[in-house]
Amino acid sequence: MRLSTLALVAILAIPLLVRADDRLVSYSREVVPFLEEHCIACHDDGFETSDLALHDLPAMLKGGRRGPAIVPGKGVDSALIQFMTGKKQPQMPPKTSIALDQIDVIKRWIDQGAKVDDTGALAAKREQARKIAAQEAAAFASDAPPPVTGLAFSPDGKLLAVAGYKEVAIVDPATGKTRRHLAGFPEQVTAVAFSPDGKWLAASGGTPGRQGEVRIWSVESWSEIGVLRGHADTVLALAWRPGKNQIATASLDKLILVWDVDSAKVVRTIKSHADIVNGLAYSPDGTKLASASSDKTAKVFNAETGLQIAGLSTHQDAVLGVAFSPDGKHLATASADRNMALWKVGEWNNPLRGFGHTGPVYALAWRPDSSSLWAGSGGRPSFLSYKTQDGNRAAPIDEGSMSKDWVYAVALSPDGQSAAAGGWDGKVLIWGLKDGKKQREFVPGKEE
Ligand code: HEC
Repeated sequence: MRLSTLALVAILAIPLLVRADDRLVSYSREVVPFLEEHCIACHDDGFETSDLALHDLPAMLKGGRRGPAIVPGKGVDSALIQFMTGKKQPQMPPKTSIALDQIDVIKRWIDQGAKVDDTGALAAKREQARKIAAQEAAAFASDAPPPVTGLAFSPDGKLLAVAGYKEVAIVDPATGKTRRHLAGFPEQVTAVAFSPDGKWLAASGGTPGRQGEVRIWSVESWSEIGVLRGHADTVLALAWRPGKNQIATASLDKLILVWDVDSAKVVRTIKSHADIVNGLAYSPDGTKLASASSDKTAKVFNAETGLQIAGLSTHQDAVLGVAFSPDGKHLATASADRNMALWKVGEWNNPLRGFGHTGPVYALAWRPDSSSLWAGSGGRPSFLSYKTQDGNRAAPIDEGSMSKDWVYAVALSPDGQSAAAGGWDGKVLIWGLKDGKKQREFVPGKEE
């Protein structure tokens, strides 16, 4: 009885399967909707992760950094399939997997020669979508302020440098008034930092995929005294080395460069991270350099030799920031895995403590007396502080007064009396730390 049922099923099923396999897969009705649902967010025309766009057949044939995405007629040999089945890593789409029968549809389309049906209608649909996106972008650009991606107080506490779109605004933190705009960058400025002696201000940025740059101004005259160019992609972070006229820079190009500021020459190239370097910090005595990378590690280097002292791997996702405590005893790391870790300098095997947030942690700052650590995040609340000693929350700031948006940049005033935060909504907020009350909120350059 059993056998015969099975046999019957088999007899019935085989021709059905054969027929299903023979059916031509439609590019416009099956492949495009699949790619749009699972892949286009990261592999679109003009937004090509790993240089790969999947918006049309020529783009797939051209492929990405590792070569063509598809080989017509050969589904199993096509990267598009291999990355989805896990035959090649990393898994695509990242962190999820697609049901095998769905992958099989795409594989059959490639096996059948990757034929494109109905290009006209599709192209029109995409063109329409692109127009809408362009209109939205234009509307957005017209009234929304650019995000704040970096903040730094001058060592005397009298100035606050704010990194924005194409420029750095120099603001008086006591009034919120913008005193000066330092222009010259082709795109968003990614970081700002005063030299430890307060004489110079440096800011970083660049042209994506082409060139990174750092501009340096004299704080006294606000004249630009130099530009550091050497990275092949945008510079994301910079740090002045205490006691030496050196700047370290980190870039999308995965490199860390150390520059002699006087000659504007690279004195060291640190090729250690396997992915983008997002953050940098020197220890207060200038002997160590810490870095944060999308390869999920933070590293500590001997600042003099560039040799690695330690690799810190506790985070499950990109490390976005690093900061040494001003007393040199601790290092904090911040990550896209929504965690922050506190390390005792010299004890690099395990962090002393971890702090969980509800969103990625983008920025770190220490109170000048090293008593507390401050973090800006994409979570709720977006701005948090912890006591170094026991990890408990420090000097709470009224949560209702915080930005509802992601906080990308934080800074503590040198007297330790106020804290500043800025982020996606383009506003800078300043709180007094005695009472946790918000003192000021402004968009640089937009105050009346
Ligand atoms: C959340 C973003 C994201 C999504 C969604 C995504 N990818 Fe990717 N993809 C990446 C990243 C990041 C890389 C580069 C990985 C690396 O180099 O380590 C990549 C690389 C690839 C590569 C290799 C390209 C090359 O030549 O370097 C292929 C092929 C690929 N993805 C296919 C797909 C397919 C097919 C889908 C949909 C099923 C998809 N991806 C969805 C982020 C994404």
